[in-house]
Amino acid sequence: HEDLLSELRGIREKGIIGGGLDKIEAQRKKGKLWVRDRLSLLLDKDGFQEIQWLRTHRSTFFGMDKVKVYGDGVIIGYGRIDGRPVFVYAQDFTVFGGSIGEVHGEKIAHLIEMAVRYGAPVIGLYDSGGARIQEGVASLHSSGLLFAANVKASGVVPQIAVMLGPCAGAASYSPALMDFVIMVKQAYMFITGPEVVKAATGVEVTFEELGGAHVHATKSGVAHLVADDEQTAFALTRKLLSYLPSNSNEEPPYIPTEDPIERRLDNLYSVVPTDPVKPFDVKEVVVSVADNGEFLEIQPDFAKSAVVGFARVGGHSVCVVANQPAEKGGVIDIDASNKIARFVRFCDAFNLPIITFVDTPGFMPGVDQEHGGIIRHGAKILHAYADATVPKITVIMRKAYGGAYIAMGSKSLGADITYAWPTAEIAVMGPESAVRILYRKEAETRPDPAKFYEEKTQEYRKIFANPYLSAELGYVDDVIDPAETRLKIATALDFVKRKREEYVGIVPKKHSNIPL
Ligand code: COA
Repeated sequence: HEDLLSELRGIREKGIIGGGLDKIEAQRKKGKLWVRDRLSLLLDKDGFQEIQWLRTHRSTFFGMDKVKVYGDGVIIGYGRIDGRPVFVYAQDFTVFGGSIGEVHGEKIAHLIEMAVRYGAPVIGLYDSGGARIQEGVASLHSSGLLFAANVKASGVVPQIAVMLGPCAGAASYSPALMDFVIMVKQAYMFITGPEVVKAATGVEVTFEELGGAHVHATKSGVAHLVADDEQTAFALTRKLLSYLPSNSNEEPPYIPTEDPIERRLDNLYSVVPTDPVKPFDVKEVVVSVADNGEFLEIQPDFAKSAVVGFARVGGHSVCVVANQPAEKGGVIDIDASNKIARFVRFCDAFNLPIITFVDTPGFMPGVDQEHGGIIRHGAKILHAYADATVPKITVIMRKAYGGAYIAMGSKSLGADITYAWPTAEIAVMGPESAVRILYRKEAETRPDPAKFYEEKTQEYRKIFANPYLSAELGYVDDVIDPAETRLKIATALDFVKRKREEYVGIVPKKHSNIPL
């Protein structure tokens, strides 16, 4: 036995060091952690079980037959986070630059299929030069298998991509197909690198400017969270998972809280101005409502006129969607539409109730926005809310005008409970614009049109600049004291969490066709 075991130990030692000690050292010099240290930091202590570490590539081109490395540049296996099972794959840049060869891709696809079968989240640690050039079409085929596995897992188990180095070419589509992308500052993602960009367009750009974490967090919206270093990225991953169920058949984790649900939010009287055009930071409302003031904001620096993220209310994990009056008055533009719709789709897939806080003047006006397809993008919000069968609770804080009122979790799209504060204004449009349309002809005949408009504006305000007409008509279930918002939401959650609804529509169908 001793000989056999020593042979196994020898092979295992080789398998553990991947591309070798020199390459591990070179990675360290670039400020990147060794792939196995990454796994230790991400997962609960001990207990990670690596599988398929003996697999090697089958390629013979370009002298590849002389360089075979156990594992083929990716570690796959299962472990735990906060005691809950997770499936993990981690690319090892020391082996052929972490590139996706035939076996590398097959291993990841296999791991994702296991996660689906056994109902636990998938976490992918990315650090790779993309499809392996030496293996040609075999590497493309296996990248395709990986993408298909991501797609099949979508909506079944949560998928989180943690970007720790390069992610080049078509390989970037794997994280993009997952639910959340967390990027460290040293990571970059692009479809074509700076050299190709220069050859094709003449534009000179650095890796960082083209696809760095900052760009993806602020401009492209590809990154959902950014971390200064790898440790922080793993801590964020663990935190994110704490809000999520392990799969779409499970309820989200319930964490009893010592924060009383009856806690009054008297601070909101000074946070939220009664004048509807004065801005305020909606995140102050969200943290006031949330258990212990904890809110994990997603995409905090992208499309900032909308705020989305996770919190707990009375121990229940919830998704929060809000307009942000502090940013362009809370208007909904193309990027904000995409941000909200995608988040609502995620929450619905994973049984997370959606709490919506509304204060928006409407969809963004403008030639750019119209030509950019705000109709198509804004429609995503409507589609996502109307399709969502999870509990939906909406709080109309101040302005809720036009299509944006409908889109933001209105009763007509199936909200379970709709609250309004006394400051709510629900109308087809704001008073000033409305009277100019209704009374333009009449105003022209008046000696003092400005005074006439002012009178009519007051009249309009009296009818619509309050929540009472909407409550009278049943579109608002209750007009509440803002200080009681936490109590109202927590109590409603206790009841509406029992909701058992499946979207079937009038006749059965394969799936809906969300405007993309
Ligand atoms: N296929 C095969 N090997 C690859 C690779 C790929 N796609 N990407 C990187 N490698 C190898 C390099 O040949 C190098 O091997 P070596 O250590 O034996 O010399 C090793 O990985 C490290 O790469 P290197 O270029 O030295 O690292 P870097 O940090 O300077 O640059 C990249 C990283 C990703 C920018 C660069 O490697 C690159 O541009 N790769 C190709 C990206 C691409 O266009 N892929 C096609 C995807 S469809």
